[in-house]
Amino acid sequence: MTRLNGRAWRTAAIGAIVSVLSGPVLAEEIFYVSGAVGNAVEDFKSLVKPWEEATGNTVTMVPMPASTTDQFGQYRLWLAAGASDIDVYQTDVIWAPQLADHFVDLTEIAKDAAPQHFPSIIESQTVNGKLVALPVFTDAPALYYRKDLLEKYGKPVPATWEELTITAQEIQDAERAAGKADLWGFVWQGNAYEGLTCNALEWVKSFGGGQIVEPDGTISINNEKAALALDTVKGWVGTISPEGVLAYQEEEARGVWQTGNAVFMRNWPYAYGLGNGDDSAVKGLFDVAPLPTGGGSDSSAATLGGWNVAVSKYSTKQEAAISLVLFLAGPEAQKERAVKSSNLPTLMALYDDPDIAAAQPIIPRWKEVFLQAVPRPSAPTKGKYNEVSAKFWSAVHQTLSGNGSAAENLELLEVELTDIKGSEW
Ligand code: GLC
Repeated sequence: MTRLNGRAWRTAAIGAIVSVLSGPVLAEEIFYVSGAVGNAVEDFKSLVKPWEEATGNTVTMVPMPASTTDQFGQYRLWLAAGASDIDVYQTDVIWAPQLADHFVDLTEIAKDAAPQHFPSIIESQTVNGKLVALPVFTDAPALYYRKDLLEKYGKPVPATWEELTITAQEIQDAERAAGKADLWGFVWQGNAYEGLTCNALEWVKSFGGGQIVEPDGTISINNEKAALALDTVKGWVGTISPEGVLAYQEEEARGVWQTGNAVFMRNWPYAYGLGNGDDSAVKGLFDVAPLPTGGGSDSSAATLGGWNVAVSKYSTKQEAAISLVLFLAGPEAQKERAVKSSNLPTLMALYDDPDIAAAQPIIPRWKEVFLQAVPRPSAPTKGKYNEVSAKFWSAVHQTLSGNGSAAENLELLEVELTDIKGSEW
């Protein structure tokens, strides 16, 4: 913040001097804060270039840690302090209810643009009638699998978690015996952070164990199916997944996968384009499928993710900031993100775009997966979502680390969530 303050101050000071000398200064420097995975920081420069050229403004990206949990903590501090250094925040789909008060209402400004997006996404960013952010991409994870290895061992793409467990173990054992000592069966995100909430919601929901807190606000997590799901996953740690998976976020999983050291990976679509990059050991060797089902249940579950852009109420450059968020949520920027970074568009029309389909075949295929994706309970738990999620991922992390059984930890979690809820969410 000190550096930024200094810089913002300098910009303001120079601006003031120039305006005294030559009238109003039109060009603005917009500070854009965002987390980043993959090549996001590099790609962002070319993404905003057309807007910079068209408006004469510039955008400076302030990169955040990759963990959405760490970003949230930092954003909350800045916003609570009313910091004017940051003009535009890139926000996770789950944050709208918690941060709504700090952002400009985009309802009027985006009234023509909003109907071009999937209605459910606009709805997720609308809090008490206020449109707090505009979507730039949506997210729904995939099961990445090595086509070459499944073919070599005559295995189908697993439809259930139980089948995945067996296939992963068999291929891992056989490949290790043949000298591939570093190969693991399955990598995913087991660190104690928001990403584990996403993974664990998928296990629980696909085992028929509900979605932690149901849309009507009922706390449902303490049930046998949820416990069975977590016990199943506990069995992966140290067998088909490295012990270290309990510290993995998205990029660590992708690192193992993209160097050719995993049979299966759970990750978001951004890993698709990168996996097919020239520097990837798995280029052309993999495909994606929906995540498996488990425990005899018949529907798979993908957690709904996605990112949005919001204008800070404390920004002194709101006009330029609003113009930037309209651009980033618009068709030109979303298409570039799709083609270059395999991010799923939120603009409905882009799912019929031939250039996107040719560059990133996952995108048209993933429309259905995303439309059926399971939201985390950020809407029913309102301002308390982060606390709820933190309790959930901690209970899961404890279970996977061997501290208490799934049944015990979920029972305790229910008590904690009931306490957080109080008389109402
Ligand atoms: C992805 C999702 C986001 C989620 C995060 C968890 O970035 O888009 O919604 O919270 O992963 O790590």
